[in-house]
Formats: sequence, structure tokens, C-alpha cells
Amino acid sequence: MGLQAAEARTNITRITYLFIINTRRSAVVQVTIGGMDKQTILQKTVDYIRQEFSNDSSGHDWWHVYRVWKNAITICENENADSFIVQLAALLHDLDDWKLNDAGDETPLRAKAWLESCSVDVSTADRVCEIIEHITYKGAGVDNNMGSLEGFIVQDADRLDAIGAIGIARAFAYGGYKNRPLYDPDSPPQRHATFEQYKNSKSATINHFYEKLLLLKDRMNTPTAKRIAEQRHEVMVQFLSQFMDEWAGADVRAD
Ligand code: ADP
Ligand code: NI
Repeated sequence: MGLQAAEARTNITRITYLFIINTRRSAVVQVTIGGMDKQTILQKTVDYIRQEFSNDSSGHDWWHVYRVWKNAITICENENADSFIVQLAALLHDLDDWKLNDAGDETPLRAKAWLESCSVDVSTADRVCEIIEHITYKGAGVDNNMGSLEGFIVQDADRLDAIGAIGIARAFAYGGYKNRPLYDPDSPPQRHATFEQYKNSKSATINHFYEKLLLLKDRMNTPTAKRIAEQRHEVMVQFLSQFMDEWAGADVRAD
């Protein structure tokens, strides 16, 4: 689904709310906040994020956010979740990522400031920030503390973009951005027991497949994402098999 289709969908949400206004006056407060309706807030957020992530070369560019947003909307269709919260969290999910900011933590300061500037009500902003705080993968041995259906959906959409062909491309883009070697046969993958260990790891990009990417299939939250992850997982397994064959020269013969 393209940008226009996503916008059309939020328009439908808006029409639904306008209908509610006619039948329940109290809903008016929820729809038009500080002069901006949900559609306008989402469009402003798209414009802001598109600008913020336009120069990224670490695999966390605008198009990553766009795919997460688009896929989160699709997963949301199968779940009884709040689409506005899902969309805001998807669009803002990498704004405070520890990998991209100097503080190295996940406190969603910038997302919070943005939501405040759009006059999003405190309860909605808190729910979005709660998702952003818990979205990141923190290591193979660290529990997932995501606490809402909307969060599960956005986390799945983010994780789907970490696997498959795009996941492979993003992993090497990030490895290059961080000056990591492609592969080091003398450094086996680790199972990180804490977020600190995971964050401080400087291992080769191939290790990242074993430390995170190949584990994601079994950690998807929603049935929709579990299904999509199966095929994307197989793409990575085949890629790694071919990579190791080529590394060993298994297909190289002089004839
Ligand atoms: P998360 O918040 O779960 O880390 P992101 O959307 O921020 O998800 O992006 C994660 C992606 O960043 C990974 O899937 C991978 O492509 C890249 N990445 C993160 N850490 C590494 C690493 N150590 N080596 C290679 N790629 C990495
Ligand atoms: Ni992301």
C-alpha cells in the first residue's frame, strides 16, 4: 500500500470519528485537539520524520520508518487496536533510538516533545512513548517488556523490517556505518544476557544474524507477523548458507 492509500485509510478513521461526533458529543474533545485533527497530526508527523531521517545511511532512513508505518497499519487490520496510537508510535519509533543518539538510551524525549508540540492529549502521548521505550531488541537473553497490543503491532512491524532481504541489506548498512567487519571466523556469536552487553558488542555483522535476526521469527507477537516472518527467515538462512560456502570457496573449482 502506498502513501496515498495509507492517507486514505486515516481519512476513513477521520470519517468514522466525525460520525461519532454526531452521536456522542464528548468525542469532539478526542478528535480535534488544539485545533488539529488526527489526520493533520499524522501528516505533520510524516513530514517531520521524513525530514529528520532523510540523510541516514545506517539502515534507519525514512524508508525504514515508512515500511514500519505501512506494515503496522496492515497488521492493525487484523487486530482490535487503536490505529492512531499505532501510527504515531510507528512514525516516531526510531527518533530516540539508542543507536542513533549520543545519550545511548531509549528515553523518548524527542518523541514526547513532538507530541506536545502537536497538542496530542497526555494519555495518548504517554501510550505512544511507552511503546517507543520498549520497542528495541535488547539482547537474546533479555525479556520483552512491551505492555500493549498497539506496542506489539509496532514492534512486529519494526522486526519484520530487520529480517528477510531488507533485513540483510540493513544489517550490512549498519555494520558499515559502525565500521564493523563483515565476518570474523575467530569471533563466535554471543548470547547477550543484558542490554548493556548487547549495546557494547562490537562484533562482526554476520554475528548479528545469530545474536538477533534469526531469533526474531519466534519472537513475533501477532499471528500476521509470525506468518510473514517464516518466509523472510528462510531468505536469511539461505543467504548465510551461501555466504559460508563462498567464504570457504566451496563452489570454486579450477577446471
Ligand atoms: P531495534 O530497535 O530492534 O534495534 P531498529 O529499527 O532500530 O530495531 O533497527 C535494527 C537494525 O539495525 C537491525 O535489524 C540491523 O539491521 C541493524 N543493527 C543493529 N545492531 C546491529 C549490529 N550489531 N550489527 C549489524 N546490524 C545491526
Ligand atoms: Ni526501526
